[in-house]
Amino acid sequence: MKKNILVIPGDGIGQEVTTWGKKVLEKIAEKYNHEFAFDEAIMGHAAIEVTGNPLPDETLEKAKASDAILFGAIGHIKYDNDPTAKVRPEQGLLKIRKELGLYANLRPILLFDELLDASSLKPEILKGTDILFFRELTGDVYFGEKKRSEDNNFASDLMNYNRYEVERIARKAFEAARTRGKKLCSVDKANVLETSRLWREVVQELAKEYSDVETEHMFIDNAAMQLVKNPKKFDVVLTANLFGDILTDEASQIAGSMGMLASASIGDGTGFFEPIHGSAHDIAGQNKANPLASILSVALMLDISFGLQEEAKTVTTAVADTLKAGWRTGDIANAQTPADKILGTVEMGEKVLAFIN
Ligand code: IPM
Ligand code: MG
Repeated sequence: MKKNILVIPGDGIGQEVTTWGKKVLEKIAEKYNHEFAFDEAIMGHAAIEVTGNPLPDETLEKAKASDAILFGAIGHIKYDNDPTAKVRPEQGLLKIRKELGLYANLRPILLFDELLDASSLKPEILKGTDILFFRELTGDVYFGEKKRSEDNNFASDLMNYNRYEVERIARKAFEAARTRGKKLCSVDKANVLETSRLWREVVQELAKEYSDVETEHMFIDNAAMQLVKNPKKFDVVLTANLFGDILTDEASQIAGSMGMLASASIGDGTGFFEPIHGSAHDIAGQNKANPLASILSVALMLDISFGLQEEAKTVTTAVADTLKAGWRTGDIANAQTPADKILGTVEMGEKVLAFIN
């Protein structure tokens, strides 16, 4: 199989982690006789520094022309502390999501048994958890009209949804539920928000078509609580953009660390694959970042964009084998981890590569 893959390292630890995602793709290509051609582009703070634009036209063109995109991370501390900045790294990510029509963000909470002790939650609560989040990605308060009054005393972000936007992501979530545990939990705030009432109405209608899937509706506040109380009860979780952003960070603690979670953003064209973690400038360039989320993002790319299930399995198995052999990066180590088992980004990446043979 021949594919063109665009790597966008982005900011902070993005470069270090995507290096390993790419190396894994190269190893897979070699093992299974595929031809993966790579190109690279800039985005976020890295792009602002060079062009003044967080998503330069050249990056967007390359993205549209590629078969899949491997993305690193976005953001810079400089902007976090400066709410007045008009040009921000995150705008690049939001724009590429919109331009590529990446309306469905899949965030699997993949729990490796070896990491049960790495979470701050009790192992007996976590064991057996397997959740697939479907977060809507191109609507909601993220993309609604933003206002600030001239006297600077008022601001507003419009939360809006169109029926078709809810329907297309809900359909994807129902289809996925059919291939899994046949349970779907739709999360909203329909007791307060009009957008959520539209959301619930659409999901209720679709549920009739998917009568083989057990559908439940839950308010976001309750879902945030249930997720840590009894995560095993969830199978597919469907939710809007902002609620999904928050819930999936919370859910990352079930998997032990943000450094373990991969995501796939898909729509009608090129798929976009990235860890859910951020740019982590505090550890950037220090060989401390966990490359596993980027490597697991590659597994999602192989599976979802290229339909290469066996290759995807080889990658996840290599990650599992690395963990079984006791290797850890700092974020997934605990007090019992022997010091000589705690590795840097490069060494961890090399271990995973060695398990792909
Ligand atoms: C995510 C991130 C982004 C989001 C930021 C960086 C804009 O938190 O992908 O979860 O809020 O969607
Ligand atoms: Mg987030």
